[in-house]
Amino acid sequence: MTDEKVDAMVVRAPKGTHDVLWPESSRWEALVAAFAGRARRGGFGLALTPVFEDARLFRRGIGGQSDVVTKEMYEFTDRDDRPLALRPEGTAPIVRAFVQHHPPVPWKAWYVTPAFRYEQPQAGRYRQHHQLGVEVLGTEDPDLDVEVIALAAGFYADLGLRQVDLAVNSMGCADDRPRYLAALGEYLGRHAGELCDEHRERFSVNPLRVLDCKRDACRAVTEDAPRLVDFLDDECAAHLARVRTGLDALGIAHRLEPRLVRGLDYYTRTTFEFSATALETAQNAVGGGGRYDGLAEAIGGEPTPGIGFGIGIERLLMACDAEGCFAVAPPPADAFVIDLTGGEEARDLVDGLRRAGLVALRAYDGRSLKAQLKQADRSGARFAVIIGTEELGSGVVTLRPLREAGEQQTVARDEIVARLSEMQRNAEMTR
Ligand code: HAM
Repeated sequence: MTDEKVDAMVVRAPKGTHDVLWPESSRWEALVAAFAGRARRGGFGLALTPVFEDARLFRRGIGGQSDVVTKEMYEFTDRDDRPLALRPEGTAPIVRAFVQHHPPVPWKAWYVTPAFRYEQPQAGRYRQHHQLGVEVLGTEDPDLDVEVIALAAGFYADLGLRQVDLAVNSMGCADDRPRYLAALGEYLGRHAGELCDEHRERFSVNPLRVLDCKRDACRAVTEDAPRLVDFLDDECAAHLARVRTGLDALGIAHRLEPRLVRGLDYYTRTTFEFSATALETAQNAVGGGGRYDGLAEAIGGEPTPGIGFGIGIERLLMACDAEGCFAVAPPPADAFVIDLTGGEEARDLVDGLRRAGLVALRAYDGRSLKAQLKQADRSGARFAVIIGTEELGSGVVTLRPLREAGEQQTVARDEIVARLSEMQRNAEMTR
């Protein structure tokens, strides 16, 4: 590779990743705050875990045969040859933290995290994406499944999203699965010639993946495939029925989707996926999750049931754009201090304003009045506070409205913080 090509790559975010800068990032801030509020009201606490883990955690937790582990994981060894991986998802690390620290159950954690998957980038699919999620460990009560699904559904509604489809299924439990897999394998074997190129030869490795395949050929075959819901034992069937009754009771519209198996192998019983139907891209799942009652044990902990979901932030914001909702404008600064006397006044005044809880900006490098005014205008601040030599001598400042009608005024230097605070309170009351 030529030096020029390397130079160009060094100053560009890696393929499939992106920067989120202000003002777009103010939307992210508002989104995380809205989710944190919902999570807190549901009794969830924030959990932070490392962005990389022992790679074997994901192999054992997500499943050694899954695409996420075999094709998409960012794996590396550190300088001491430890096998590590960047987290491809948020659930296995949270369950690992639960097994390590054994907090009292039910343990309810929420998180916001980047996730890394080596996928072919396209609209709504990235190599680094970000997830908001929750996990609950320690109870198999189906009412908790309802609570978790309701949290996600309520969050979408908070953002103003209307066109969200909720599909629900049950993956059954360890006892149901072999009977079902045998029936599905036998059915797919009879239709192998009609499957897509990828699954024609390989369907028997993991027949469930064929249900997940979005290609027309596989969709047509699986239309009439045996359904997992028809193979559930009495307990799993009752669990699913209770979840669906609970969703109905809370007015959460949903449909049973017998082919919903999801791409991670840890799921048992309830699985669900939210799709934004306003998105025309193939990647329209804006969140998904389910139960993983065997995951804690699979990674070496005590058997502990669990359930949660992950919501992709990028896709969620794409869905908001498609529906024209959750357009967050960054709040304007309260004041831009223009100091023509050397900078000490601006230094002290922005500090005073910020201590009073106001958003205060200023120019640097002793720029001219014209340059500072231009910067103040561009900043979107509500007022310019101007301090020239004359004002300094008389102990006053000039207060000039930048965004609303009104005359500029002279205000005593030691009253300006109180005056701007009062104006900000009034503006907030009328908002
Ligand atoms: P997941 O369905 O793989 O589940 O991902 C959750 C969400 O993350 C998806 O619905 C989608 O919105 C977003 N997402 C996934 N991959 C990408 C990508 N490459 N680019 C952009 N967005 C993406 C999980 O990760 C599970 N840990 C969810 C869960 C939590 N299950 C139980 N608890």
